[in-house]
Order: sequence, then structure tokens, then C-alpha cells
Amino acid sequence: MKAAIIGYGKMGREIERILAERGHETALIIDTDNAAELDAAHLAGIDVAIEFTTPQTAYDNIRTCLEAGTAVVSGTTGWTERLPELEELCRRRDGAMFYASNYCLGVNLLFRLNRELAAMIERLGAAYDVRIEEIHHTQKKDAPSGTAITLAEGVIGNLSAKKSWVNHAPGIECAAHRIDSPADAAPDQLVIGSLREGSVPGTHTVAYESEDDLLELRHTIKNRRTLALGAVVAAEFLCGRKGVYGMEDLMK
Ligand SMILES: NC(=O)c1ccc[n+]([C@@H]2O[C@H](COP(=O)([O-])OP(=O)(O)OC[C@H]3O[C@@H](n4cnc5c(N)ncnc54)[C@H](O)[C@@H]3O)[C@@H](O)[C@H]2O)c1
Repeated sequence: MKAAIIGYGKMGREIERILAERGHETALIIDTDNAAELDAAHLAGIDVAIEFTTPQTAYDNIRTCLEAGTAVVSGTTGWTERLPELEELCRRRDGAMFYASNYCLGVNLLFRLNRELAAMIERLGAAYDVRIEEIHHTQKKDAPSGTAITLAEGVIGNLSAKKSWVNHAPGIECAAHRIDSPADAAPDQLVIGSLREGSVPGTHTVAYESEDDLLELRHTIKNRRTLALGAVVAAEFLCGRKGVYGMEDLMK
């Protein structure tokens, strides 16, 4: 596989290592200093581009790849309200794209468990309130994390007591792991607490609490390698395919 890396930061560098380990060629690396080189001419001959940049740049980068006819895998978070536009463009141009808010297999298992647990609590009519907490490193630009939003959508889609989510980010200096609901959150709003600490790669907790007990689903990423490996496996999956894909397709 001949790959392009768009965004040569923490993820881009890890992806480059894994591409090499798995016998793939990194033929093009794009970052801010050569961003103008992301065009059809430079993408010619590339099988798949892997994009991990910023919420401000992901849309244009993916669009450029699709318009050049290059398959693209992206994991950039914090911009996905515009994702449907690109999915539509991809289908119209008979292109190929893969997007996931989290490329870790364990997190995607958590997504399934989270939906199932919310549906079980709904069926039982149990008196639990639910909240989500995410902890990431202090350089993370968006809050809440894309993973926390996916978890919140999984709860809201299955538990009628929650209609929308609201973010509560007390600030990156906060050391406490327990986030209280903000006073202005309505009962039907699911609170997502965001904490920023040190170099934490990503910890997500979905907590159901009653007066008598606390039930938590928690996933902790130990290193970035699992995320980069997932993105490279997604690129291998996308090679030679047409269409719009996500982790559910890969896990099938
Ligand atoms: N989906 C997942 O599994 C997953 C995992 C980790 C990170 N992320 C997300 O991926 C993104 C990148 O994460 P990171 O930790 O590598 O961040 P980072 O800040 O370390 O790297 C981002 C890189 O993108 C570069 N960049 C900025 N604008 C660019 C442009 N126009 N063209 C090319 N490169 C450009 C920056 O210079 C930087 O090198 C973030 O949105 C993060 O939340 C997603």
C-alpha cells in the first residue's frame, strides 16, 4: 500500500511507524509547512491518505483527497457536524472514505456495550441518572472528545430520559476525577464532563448512579499505538473499496 500522511503530529508520526512495520510505503507527508502540496498532482499514485490534523483543517483536507479521487481515512475530531457533506461528496464521486472518532478496538466494543446497557436500563425503568466523563492530555484542542459524543449519542438513542447532551469542562487544571453536574443542566440533558490532565491518551467513563449504587463502564487507552494501528488497519480495509465506512464495517 502506498500511503500519504496528512498531519505529521503525534498520530501522524505513530502512523508512519506502523505503516513501515506492516510493509507499507509512506510516499507523501503533509503538514503545515507544505500544506499547499496537498493537491491532485502530489496525490497521484497514492492508494490511501490518512488524515489526523485539526478541527479547522480536516474538512478541506478530506475534500481535496476526495476531489483528487484518493481514498481517505480520517480520525480528526471536533468538526464532524460537516461529515455528512463529505459522505455525500464521496458517494457522488464514487470515492472511498473511512471515518472514526476513535480507532481503538476496545473503545468500539465499549460503544456497543454502552448502547446495550442504556437499552437494558430503559427496559428496566431503573432509577439511574447517567453521566459521561472523558480525560485527555492538555494539548487536546476540542471538548468534549469525539468519543464522548459518540457515547452520548449511544445513550440518547436508547434511553428516553436523556434528550440531548451538554458539556461541562471545568478547565485543564482540575485535578478531581469526579465531575458534578453543572447547576444549569436540565434533567433530560446528559452531562459530559471533560478533564485535561498531563499526557493522558484517553479515558472514558459512562456512569449510572442511583441512590444506592454506582455502575460504571470505563475504557482507558494505555498508549497511542492502538489508535494508530486501528487507522492503518482501516486504510488496508479501504484500499480497493468504494463507499463510506466506519468501525462497525471493519468489525464485521
Ligand atoms: N479518531 C481517533 O482515534 C483519534 C486518536 C487520536 C487523536 N485524534 C484526533 O486527531 C487529531 C490529531 O491528533 P494529534 O494528537 O496527532 O494532534 P497533533 O496536534 O499532535 O498533530 C496535528 C498535526 O496536524 C498538523 N496540521 C495542522 N494543520 C494542517 C494542515 N492544514 N495540513 C496538514 N497538517 C496540518 C499540525 O501541524 C500537527 O503536526 C485531533 O483532532 C485528535 O483529537 C483522533
